[in-house]
Amino acid sequence: MGLPDEPVFLRSNAIIEPLVDRFFAWMHIIAPVQASMNLANLQVPLLESYLQNPQVHLAASRNPALRGGYFVNIEESRSNEVADLLDGIKRDRADMLAFAAAVAEAEAMLEQQATGFDLTPLYPKLPAPLNGLVELAYDTNNQPSMRYIEPLVYTSPVYDRRRQSVQLSLDNGVERPFILSTPRLPMPDVLDLPLRFDHPGLDALFAARTSPTTLAQLREALELDDAQAVQLSTLLSDAPSLSPDRHIESGGRIRYFGHACLVLQTPEAAIVTDPFISTDNRHGDRYTLDDLPDRIGLVLITHGHQDHIVLETLIALRSRIGAVVVPRSSRGNMCDPSIGLYLKAIGFNVIEVDDYDEVPFPGGRVVATPFLGEHSDLDIRAKSTFIVQLAGASAFIGADSSGIDPVLYRYVRSHLGKVDMAFLGMECDGAPLTWLYQGLLTRPVTKKMSDSRKLSGSNAKQAADIMQELDADEAYIYAMGEESWQGHVMATTYTEDTYQLKQINEFLTWCTEHGVTAEHLLNKREWRW
Ligand SMILES: [Fe+2]
Ligand SMILES: [Fe+2]
Repeated sequence: MGLPDEPVFLRSNAIIEPLVDRFFAWMHIIAPVQASMNLANLQVPLLESYLQNPQVHLAASRNPALRGGYFVNIEESRSNEVADLLDGIKRDRADMLAFAAAVAEAEAMLEQQATGFDLTPLYPKLPAPLNGLVELAYDTNNQPSMRYIEPLVYTSPVYDRRRQSVQLSLDNGVERPFILSTPRLPMPDVLDLPLRFDHPGLDALFAARTSPTTLAQLREALELDDAQAVQLSTLLSDAPSLSPDRHIESGGRIRYFGHACLVLQTPEAAIVTDPFISTDNRHGDRYTLDDLPDRIGLVLITHGHQDHIVLETLIALRSRIGAVVVPRSSRGNMCDPSIGLYLKAIGFNVIEVDDYDEVPFPGGRVVATPFLGEHSDLDIRAKSTFIVQLAGASAFIGADSSGIDPVLYRYVRSHLGKVDMAFLGMECDGAPLTWLYQGLLTRPVTKKMSDSRKLSGSNAKQAADIMQELDADEAYIYAMGEESWQGHVMATTYTEDTYQLKQINEFLTWCTEHGVTAEHLLNKREWRW
């Protein structure tokens, strides 16, 4: 690297890994109500279990049959650092741990004392950490519950931005540890910075993918010392690495970037769905951040699962995004954190939508449509599919929505007309309830109950029903977590005779028999008109 004032760009394979208390960050460990529950009920017990027997965790982490399980993949020789992390959490996150304990206490109190009579006398009995942050209510079936007043919780000690930090490094293609379970310790060649996720220095850094800056400017923006500046310089290059065909001059284009990420473009606009994009451009088998247009008008988020709101991609794009369109939550359910509040607190412009709300853009419009199921039957409203109309074509962005009740899609068809292309997720044997939601549950579930409530999208029959009701011409199976660069988030293990792949083949056969063009997407694909 040259002098501090020479023009420089960020290398195309630079990655950011956002961390909270050193765990890879995702919504349920950042949004304060859910983060408190997961910290107390999942992460602290996980670290304690590791410290009792590091060897068991290490062996389990390396056992392919247990991929995606809650095990800490850290060498025993570094267990003292894990012990320090745990001590630090118990000392510095006392407000969060007290909040989670208060939730448990209040739920028990409601179960005993909220018996259909006036709730007013119960407010003084709420544990202090909940005062001013919850409302008590019955549903019309006399079931009591607490509504968390989330905007206030974000301004309370329970939302502590000092938990946040980032690791910057170069993507060398080596698979990273599974995000839900292993805290990220400092590593050589990784720049560890104690920056909050909304820090403007991060925008200055990532803007340098497309326009030049200088090491001196970045050093100031990121508040670096000498050693950190030297380390940062390894992430910089004297030339940008942008694909010449990242913009189009006429018509429309859709590109599949892997998993649930699609880039829909006209000459004037670009829409990106569920951004989760590789930074490793050495292979040619995939689109990477290099292939994105310089400006992204709208990002569409379909739901809150960790493979659909991926902060490592979102933060890297923040300075280029006009607004993020997100489904509105139920405002206060424990299991349904507001995606809008979460992203606003991390520095994004947000547009919240309900079913059938429209967001226009130059040359087209996005319409939010319902999303059914795939959330273990929890009352989660922050989920949406979308219909995007652009350059005379239309695409249904179906994400993991299932065809549990295909009549719903008949309503969508009659309200919005026929769609040309349908993108459907068919993860039809998803993880059980407790895999993702264990930390939030305030009443235990049996294994049998949990296993019966899976995070499943459409099977072959349901996907065919959706196609029939939408009357779409083309079907594309996506969002299956099969791309090689997503292992740290997906933990997918499909083989030829996996149920999901058999169902996909059955659906593809149905499509052939019914004159529907269909394809199972992998890695990359382009449609141009
Ligand atoms: Fe999902
Ligand atoms: Fe998914």
